[in-house]
Amino acid sequence: MPNLLLKARLALELPEINRALDTLIEKLPAPVRPAAGHTITAGGKRLRPLLTVLTAKLFGCRDRKIYPLSCTLEMLHAATLMHDDVIDNAPTRRGKPAAHTLHGVTETILAGDALLAAANDFVASYGSPALCSIFSRATYETAAGEILELHAMHNVSLTLSEYTDIIRGKTACLIRSACEMGAVFAGAPDESVRAISAFGENIGMAFQMVDDALDCASEESTGKPTGGDLREGKLTPPLQLYRLGLGGEERGAFDKSFSEGTFTSEEIESICADIRGRGLDTKVREEADVYLTRAREALEKTPDCAERRILMQMADFVRDRRK
Ligand code: IPE
Ligand code: IPE
Ligand code: MG
Ligand code: MG
Repeated sequence: MPNLLLKARLALELPEINRALDTLIEKLPAPVRPAAGHTITAGGKRLRPLLTVLTAKLFGCRDRKIYPLSCTLEMLHAATLMHDDVIDNAPTRRGKPAAHTLHGVTETILAGDALLAAANDFVASYGSPALCSIFSRATYETAAGEILELHAMHNVSLTLSEYTDIIRGKTACLIRSACEMGAVFAGAPDESVRAISAFGENIGMAFQMVDDALDCASEESTGKPTGGDLREGKLTPPLQLYRLGLGGEERGAFDKSFSEGTFTSEEIESICADIRGRGLDTKVREEADVYLTRAREALEKTPDCAERRILMQMADFVRDRRK
């Protein structure tokens, strides 16, 4: 449960963000709208646009054009989710059927591409090469991270540094970009952009580690399938801790099923229950706190104001979130 200051600010900002998103969705070409609109209107925490808006305000921006600009990163995020659910074979997203299960894989991929390009085009209308560059970099770094992850699938020898590179690319870069976009739009000095960029990147790293912990939680709470990472062969931190806790013979059996991708639904349920029962998901949240400490330290270098206090609380929210 977000604390009061954060909650009050979310109640203020989220309706504005959602209104701006609706307007942008209406402008999409009609054939793109079913799959893209389905994903965007299905819900979501709107973390990335919130970060853009709060960061812009942190640096004194009061221009309302920040709202539609912030939505471009939510559009990019939604496009990556549409593609990610195809890659991950995921049947649900945001508590609803994933777009590809309703509209087919080909249409969903094309709609994701179009959504991405529409967002890019909209950023360009702001006439700022720096904003265009932030958006483009976020796009290619996210895709590169997803490819690194593909190469690491079903690999029981994945190292911590390989895992770190994957999540920096697939998740942290976009969250970092959301913060940079707000700061650049507000005209913040380079030093402040660097500080908020470090804040965003560290928040992003922690965010993905917590997502990996939440992969073992119930679908009811997250709106995403339980144990998807195990099924798809992603050796995330909770699964790594679980594997290291197994004895020789059991570990051999785990490694065989993991590398061959042959876990049954019952085995997946049982491993996820075990991870929760042994508190390995909580342990991963604690490990994520290292990044959150770095994020808070970076934020200390920015102006002391209401938005900074809210961003500090977002760091707590990232660690404690349940969906
Ligand atoms: C899901 O992101 C994909 C990850 C990077 C882990 P979110 O957890 O922000 O998803 P929504 O937007 O709230 O649905
Ligand atoms: C998220 O990775 C990365 C992107 C969507 C680019 P996950 O595969 O862990 O995200 P969820 O769990 O499906 O949201
Ligand atoms: Mg996924
Ligand atoms: Mg996940």
